[in-house]
Amino acid sequence: MMNTKLNATIICTFLLLAVSVGCQGSKDRDVKPVTEEPPAEDVSLQKNLPFKFGAAISPGLMKSRAAYRDVVTKEFNSITTENAMKMSFIHPSANTYNWADADYLVDFAAQNGKRLHGHTLNWYKNVPAWVASFQGDSTAWEALLKTHIQTIVSRYKGRVASWDVVNEAFEENGKYRNSIWIQKLGEDYIARCFQYAHEADPQALLFYNDYGHEYGPTKRTAILNLVTGLKNRGIPIHGIGMQMHTRVNRSDADLAKAIETAAATGLLVHISELDIAVNPDNDKNMVWTAALASQQALKYKSIVKAYNAIPKAQQFGITTWNVSDADSWIPGQYDRPDWPLPFDANYERKPAYQGILDGVK
Ligand code: XIL
Repeated sequence: MMNTKLNATIICTFLLLAVSVGCQGSKDRDVKPVTEEPPAEDVSLQKNLPFKFGAAISPGLMKSRAAYRDVVTKEFNSITTENAMKMSFIHPSANTYNWADADYLVDFAAQNGKRLHGHTLNWYKNVPAWVASFQGDSTAWEALLKTHIQTIVSRYKGRVASWDVVNEAFEENGKYRNSIWIQKLGEDYIARCFQYAHEADPQALLFYNDYGHEYGPTKRTAILNLVTGLKNRGIPIHGIGMQMHTRVNRSDADLAKAIETAAATGLLVHISELDIAVNPDNDKNMVWTAALASQQALKYKSIVKAYNAIPKAQQFGITTWNVSDADSWIPGQYDRPDWPLPFDANYERKPAYQGILDGVK
């Protein structure tokens, strides 16, 4: 025991002297690649991938955490607004729009040559109290929805390249969610959201965004029927967003099927919220291991490989949901430890990072 500890100390001291790398790298939360050299410093996701690679970004972390901002600046060429454009944040009361956070991200993207993807014009969640209690007939509801969408899209016309227009309209059983929008406006509110956005910025690329394409045919078929139906009616829809909040034990075949069937619509395909959970069964005591790191790296690789195989013209890009294991929404959302992203809690590249690069080799 003593000898092992002593040896470890000697090795760490040597490493510190030799390569200025601290021993804290051996803590559970930030295991470094052991079998491979980390990718060179001049490598980045935005430089080394043949399609855009982005992340969902928080303005607060951009301002408060230098390592976060550095990774965003260096690695990504696309940015999705994580929360800043959701209805209750950007439109907290009927006549108030709160532009500060969204403006910050749109300006950062413009100044740093990154594409800005707006998320999301319509959702069943994040409905502000003033909307939940709104009283009016269908004309009044229609006006509310149209004004919301067009005020936001016109403000960012020419600066926001693309939008998630409608997010998560389906249940897992393939039925429409009983959202406030469907209650007040009926199923065709979805088509009208697209038309309103298109009127406000005819150049913007418009996406229907949802999760669960990889779960199986039930929900996937509902989503594909919706988007092809809209396309065939001439509704201005340009792409499918597949969130892909997935897990290390989801089969490669299911993930590839999701990507291939989306591409078969002929629309743009955005893997829009990628993260790969290693603790989907909510083990409160789980620790991060090298074995998990390499399983996760292989899963990232497999997704990127399947995505790289669809026609180039349909590759809108891949976006991870958040940047690192320190800022992922997963641990807070599910109250468990997890390590879903390609950067560790110190904003260092994980084996998953190399997995992403390997996916296009
Ligand atoms: C999440 C954010 O990451 C969290 O910060 C927030 O508390 C809840 O929403 N699907 C979506 C995203 O479309 O908007 C969600 O974002 C994650 C699931």
